Amino acid sequence: MSTFDLHAKIPNNVDLAADRRLQRALEHWQPHYLSWWNEMGPDGFQDKDIYLRTAIGVSGDDWAQFDYVRMPDYRWGIFLADQVPDRKVSFGDHLGQPAWQEVPGEHRTTLRRIIVTQGDTEPASVEQQRRLGLTAPSLYDLRNLFQVNVEEGRHLWAMVYLLHSYFGAEGRDEAEELLARRAGDADKPRILDAFNQPCNDWLSFFCFTMFADRDGKFQLASLAESGFDPLSRTCRFMLTEEAHHMFVGDTGLERILRRSAQLTRLDPAGDARAQGGIDLPTIQRFINFWFSYCLDLFGSEVSTNASDFFAAGLKGRFNEEKRYTEHTALNQTKTIWMPRAGQLVAEDIDLRNAMNECLREDYVDDCQNAIRRWSKAVQSEGVDFEVTLPNPRFHRHQGIYAGLTFDLRGNLISQEEFDRRKAEWLPSTADLEYLRSIMQPVYEPGRIANWIAPPKKGINNNEFAFEYVKL
Ligand SMILES: [Fe+2]
Ligand SMILES: [Fe+2]
Repeated sequence: MSTFDLHAKIPNNVDLAADRRLQRALEHWQPHYLSWWNEMGPDGFQDKDIYLRTAIGVSGDDWAQFDYVRMPDYRWGIFLADQVPDRKVSFGDHLGQPAWQEVPGEHRTTLRRIIVTQGDTEPASVEQQRRLGLTAPSLYDLRNLFQVNVEEGRHLWAMVYLLHSYFGAEGRDEAEELLARRAGDADKPRILDAFNQPCNDWLSFFCFTMFADRDGKFQLASLAESGFDPLSRTCRFMLTEEAHHMFVGDTGLERILRRSAQLTRLDPAGDARAQGGIDLPTIQRFINFWFSYCLDLFGSEVSTNASDFFAAGLKGRFNEEKRYTEHTALNQTKTIWMPRAGQLVAEDIDLRNAMNECLREDYVDDCQNAIRRWSKAVQSEGVDFEVTLPNPRFHRHQGIYAGLTFDLRGNLISQEEFDRRKAEWLPSTADLEYLRSIMQPVYEPGRIANWIAPPKKGINNNEFAFEYVKL
């Protein structure tokens, strides 16, 4: 078991005090991080007391404590899950060899790129969400937003620790760059496109935490399988925090859908917008948009990079060790529908080259569970409406389907037809304007905006009416 130093300048369980050089380097990065937070973190509320969870352990039920804290005083720390004794590389060409405690030289560049790409998403999401506090539907939701934000900040710390600790001067440069790029910036954008999309309304926020944070779950889980042990341990603990982010998105969307169904029933013409709510087809369009953008995050369906990551033992499949009995993925194939001369043709692709697609499919299944629950919630309010996921080929910007146009069921269609039906399938400027018009802040404890249902229960056994943010 690791020992926790919670009172150090940088709280940690990696015995930072014993490595003076590393400690100095990270203490040098800390004020840079804080100025990034002040500049790009949540707009307003920085001097308010917020009921937040802070990590104080890495396992068991009491790994976190809840208390009022001002965001800039949040104890961002470096926490790795406990080491598994005698851990072995559990897949790929190094199968069965001892897991690496240092970066293997041959995989140094690849590993750095993996860590930087993951790390970049963490501050990016904080930047995308920075203005949402100004229109929060309740104090409960406001608090959840800030909880997600401070933990994405901690995830940045987790990745920066790896860069500083294992990648020397190059790692330190990358850590600075992580604070220099900006979500949506024309000159210095974030690395992945979904993390450059604006997220200025709460329907987008819940879609983001549902779909983008869930991508995070699958990326972290596949890196938790990594033969590079410090990365595996880092990701294992991040997954513990990530669960709450997905909870926020999943339940947030369910609450909007439920309220939308109630308002649809209430309105004589069945128009939720006439009642100040969000109509179900609009919610579906946002789901289509964010789901499709988040599918891009898994990379191309056919990818030699993905094959190399797997072969090297750096990135496994979802639950690789527990779920599979065969861990080389050699001499096996996966069928993928390839676009060939205006048609889709089923082709057998070498399994290692299809690793991105394997992870994406598990992600889609996971999303599908929520979709089924949401449809039931809507129907239980007496409205006949089915929430669906678009086909994974729809509206893609990365991978083999990028540049082609598909309908929601995944049929190839012409660009003209896509353009004609776009407003039916994806959010329009008018949708965004409408959302902006109804999203007015509600800051009194126990009250909630008209367009969303209250949660079934509050945070940490408190009730919904608890004063989650002291304004
Ligand atoms: Fe994260
Ligand atoms: Fe997250």
